[in-house]
Amino acid sequence: MTKKKNNKLLSTSINKKVSSLMDEFNSSIDIDQRLIEEDILVTQAHVSALEKLKIISKLETKKIYQGLNEILNDYQKGKIKFSKKNEDIHMNVEYFLHQRIGDVALKIHTGRSRNDQVATDTRLWTKKSAKEIQKLIKMVMRSILNQANKHQETIIPGFTHLQIAQPISLSHHLLAYLEMFKRDLDYFEFSIQGADENVLGSAALAGSNYQLDQNLLNKKLGFSKSKQNSMDGVSDRDFCMYFLHSCSMTSIHLGKLSSELILWSSNLAGFFNVHSEYSTGSSIMPQKRNPDSLELIRSKANIIRSKSQELSNIISNLPLTYFKDFQEDKKIIFDCFDELSLCLNVMSDVIRKSHFNKKIGVELCETNFATATDLADYLVIEKNIPFRKSYKTIADIVQFALNNKMKLSEISLKEFQSFEKLIDSNIYQYIDIKKSLARKKTNMSTNPKEVSKKIRKFQKFLK
Ligand code: ARG
Repeated sequence: MTKKKNNKLLSTSINKKVSSLMDEFNSSIDIDQRLIEEDILVTQAHVSALEKLKIISKLETKKIYQGLNEILNDYQKGKIKFSKKNEDIHMNVEYFLHQRIGDVALKIHTGRSRNDQVATDTRLWTKKSAKEIQKLIKMVMRSILNQANKHQETIIPGFTHLQIAQPISLSHHLLAYLEMFKRDLDYFEFSIQGADENVLGSAALAGSNYQLDQNLLNKKLGFSKSKQNSMDGVSDRDFCMYFLHSCSMTSIHLGKLSSELILWSSNLAGFFNVHSEYSTGSSIMPQKRNPDSLELIRSKANIIRSKSQELSNIISNLPLTYFKDFQEDKKIIFDCFDELSLCLNVMSDVIRKSHFNKKIGVELCETNFATATDLADYLVIEKNIPFRKSYKTIADIVQFALNNKMKLSEISLKEFQSFEKLIDSNIYQYIDIKKSLARKKTNMSTNPKEVSKKIRKFQKFLK
């Protein structure tokens, strides 16, 4: 490290008397140091644009690039301690560069502002992070898909109103979540596109006094286009909202899935045993295994959903252009990313390792008359009875079975015929739980042939 430089030149303030409390209050370095890589990339790109304009020489550019790379390196090795006096990541990096390479560093802020700098850094971070979340969503999807593949023959009752409704395969149920998470991938794609606009050249708000090469800047930073309006450039945080909304959507699906698995793991259902690595015991009741992992996902998913509200509270009603209010955006998006990544990692592992009960579903379907709809359809299809009439007949039969504590399969043909004389022995085919699945005709149904098609489709998609 070179000897200490006079850094009065790097102060952002014409007011010399900032209180130490204000320094503490104003500083964002504890949060935004996370943008160091993006910030350094953005500065390097900007310096290249200045080099093209001959504001900075080739040699100086090289020195700046090297100095910045060293700062990043040292930071990653834990050798740099940022200071709150230097406010944020942008000023800290500039300060350390000055310390390291001397007065050449005083040129890097030519023709830009922290306003376009921070917006560009944050856009790069958001693009990267949305892609990271997409990867994690795909990982969860693979865990679900593996279980769906294993459980094509496992029958469980499907519910509406939390009442046993009709038999389905566990596979079909799990595949519904793959549809949801696939939509989330699209949502994140949209948020990546939203972040994919380069703000550099906007400077403070009016644009830069230097003809910075937009193509060069975009190419260096991987943006596909530049902002059309500098004022929109420095104040637009919609891309953060898109990111948070995408996280919200995924957390809605995670919350739904965790709720369902918690329910299934209850002794009342018993379809699902959360792996011992992801459940905990009770401090007093020795027999208990609690699905804490899933309960935490459910709760964190709710917190994640509140993040988009937090940011929209900050950015709503602000006139153009930049305000320090925006500094608070980063904690929100970082927290949201961290919590969602954690939840996705845990969910993937829970599903991969846990056990779905293969046996319990058929019995539940039988004792709860889950094929009653099939019986009503039997009278329509084979006996040409209008559906509303057949519905009534089967409702009476179910009542009879309930009164006599019988399953439908235990009712004799004679007893059936006392409700409808056209009923023949074929009715037993319609009581059969397994056959109920195969009878489904539509392509989105739980018919095992359709389900296996969807499994193949997702296997291809996730390969
Ligand atoms: N730390 C600031 C932020 O995150 C950087 C931009 C500061 N701009 C300014 N005009 N004070 O928003």
